[in-house]
Amino acid sequence: MSPAENNSHSCIKNPVPGIPRHVAVIMDGNGRWAKNRGQSRIKGHRKGAESVHRIIRLCGDHGVEHLTLFAFSSENWKRPPREVKLLMELFISVLEKDIDALVENGVRLRIMGDLDRFGKRIGRLIKKAEMRTTCNDCMQLTIAANYGGRWDITQACQQLAEKARSGEIKPDEINEELLARHLVTAGIPDPDLFIRTGGEKRISNYLIWQLAYTELFFTDVLWPDFSKDDFAEALSWFASRERRFGKTSEQLKENKARKAGHA
Ligand code: FPP
Repeated sequence: MSPAENNSHSCIKNPVPGIPRHVAVIMDGNGRWAKNRGQSRIKGHRKGAESVHRIIRLCGDHGVEHLTLFAFSSENWKRPPREVKLLMELFISVLEKDIDALVENGVRLRIMGDLDRFGKRIGRLIKKAEMRTTCNDCMQLTIAANYGGRWDITQACQQLAEKARSGEIKPDEINEELLARHLVTAGIPDPDLFIRTGGEKRISNYLIWQLAYTELFFTDVLWPDFSKDDFAEALSWFASRERRFGKTSEQLKENKARKAGHA
């Protein structure tokens, strides 16, 4: 296995005011993009992979700390075998080819999901790619693969039930914080900004626990067309949101004034 590499990168350190620490994306619309051009869905996914490269660069440029992309859902196995094969090839291509660029740019790669289904070869590639980037700290790219939010909550509950059964914890010690520490996203802050391209206004079993207080940005733009300007629009919309986390607008203003007084 390759050792971790670290090329002492210069990068923007978070938090950058007004910029989300964590952006989570559902990259929808590859199939329609291709259909609109009379091309196969496969062409749409290939073009979508170019948008993946673009958003990684843009997030790095803006000082986003975490980018989480939904590459393959637990339900995507039901797609035609040729399409599943191509999606696997694109996934492998990230692990084998794009990994050098991630290392060079200080991006840490993590893959999350029910990974056993991918088999031993891809499992080894995942471990190797993750290992090569463990020391990188400019940004973390998390790829959700064979992932589903309900699966994640279920596997966390199984771990907690096992710990309760063995006496390691008491059932009444289980709270939100403990459950969150057993999700596959443990250690990653909840997303601040969620982006879904392709016009649908759904969460589609993505990070359903973690999106509780996330700002949700939906756009009709199809993923392969998602450009620098579209990302800028999402960021500027995010910056205009008042994040209240259950409090009132007045309470937030009072807190801000109090903090300014102490400064
Ligand atoms: C949804 O579009 C997209 C996917 C299921 C796959 C996304 C994959 C990529 C962008 C390429 C590979 C990326 C990585 C990170 C390995 P859709 O096919 O549902 O589009 P439609 O709604 O127009 O049919």
